Amino acid sequence: MSSMLSKKLIPWQQQHGRNDLPWQNNPTPYRVWISEIMLQQTQVETVKAYYVRFMHRFPTLKDLAKASEDEVLQLWTGLGYYARARNLHRAAKIIVNDYQGQFPDDLSEIIKLPGIGRSTAGAILSFAMNQSAVILDGNVKRVLTRAFAMNIWPGDSKVQDTLWALATKHTPKKDTGIYNQALMDLGAMICTRRAPQCPLCPLRKNCLAYAQKIQEHIPHPKPKKAMPEKYGFMLVLYNKKENAILLGKRPSNGIWGGLWCFPECPIDLRHKKNFLEQIHHTFTHYRFHIQLVKILTQSFRIPKTLQAAEYQWYKLDHSAPIALAAPVKSLINFSC
Ligand code: ADE
Repeated sequence: MSSMLSKKLIPWQQQHGRNDLPWQNNPTPYRVWISEIMLQQTQVETVKAYYVRFMHRFPTLKDLAKASEDEVLQLWTGLGYYARARNLHRAAKIIVNDYQGQFPDDLSEIIKLPGIGRSTAGAILSFAMNQSAVILDGNVKRVLTRAFAMNIWPGDSKVQDTLWALATKHTPKKDTGIYNQALMDLGAMICTRRAPQCPLCPLRKNCLAYAQKIQEHIPHPKPKKAMPEKYGFMLVLYNKKENAILLGKRPSNGIWGGLWCFPECPIDLRHKKNFLEQIHHTFTHYRFHIQLVKILTQSFRIPKTLQAAEYQWYKLDHSAPIALAAPVKSLINFSC
């Protein structure tokens, strides 16, 4: 039984899809494999020139296997993600040594090769070996989650089996290469992450996200972890006569390492009266709410309990150029 998706997508691909990309000409397993690896993290337009150069230098899998790793990496320079190039080279050697130079034609064998996952293997089998094999890359996940209005984040490990089952169910037995290319083309050209071109989409009449006008909210983004909130107190010891505040150099490890800051104080000062405003600071892993507690002092004597580290009285009028921590800068800006 051929699914609604393939009925719509196959004719659409033949008419509107991309059919003259360099790797679509003479799609041998070797040529398709190289293109799929290059395309994994890189735009089609960037890949084209690299692909043509790579094929010129290594026209066959045996040429690649014979090359030095340095030369392979050199041809890869600028594409990034260099593990891809090292894996290609290793896999070429394995295919020459263990498979007599013939690219394996079985999914379970292909995915044993370094750098080839299930979706890339599906692309190679369907584009180059005329097999009915399933692909499920980022673009395909977006098309499927929208077509079926799935309220999920497709990166969630718990939904991978469901997505593969859905992708498998809709993959046709015949013309699988055209169908898979259609999914890729649709994801790249029409069903884009932002501002999808729904009026041009061959699936618009069947798309459950479009029916509810929620296509821009699907797929769901990766859920953000709740930021822990931390609270602290800092002492603003202020000498009014000298217009100076007491600053301490923070230990080099930890937040504001090595910067000059108000003494941070672990004791509970909630009952003190003279509170200044709070300062809120967001770090990568938590939000920090600082209650500044102002204490007036007459002397420049550093209180005994604070004498452990390095301190100085910082004169607010003629300040020496020292590196100040964020709460100090905020308070100084606020007071000026
Ligand atoms: N991205 C991954 N594979 C592709 C292909 N065969 N054509 C276009 N873009 C792709």
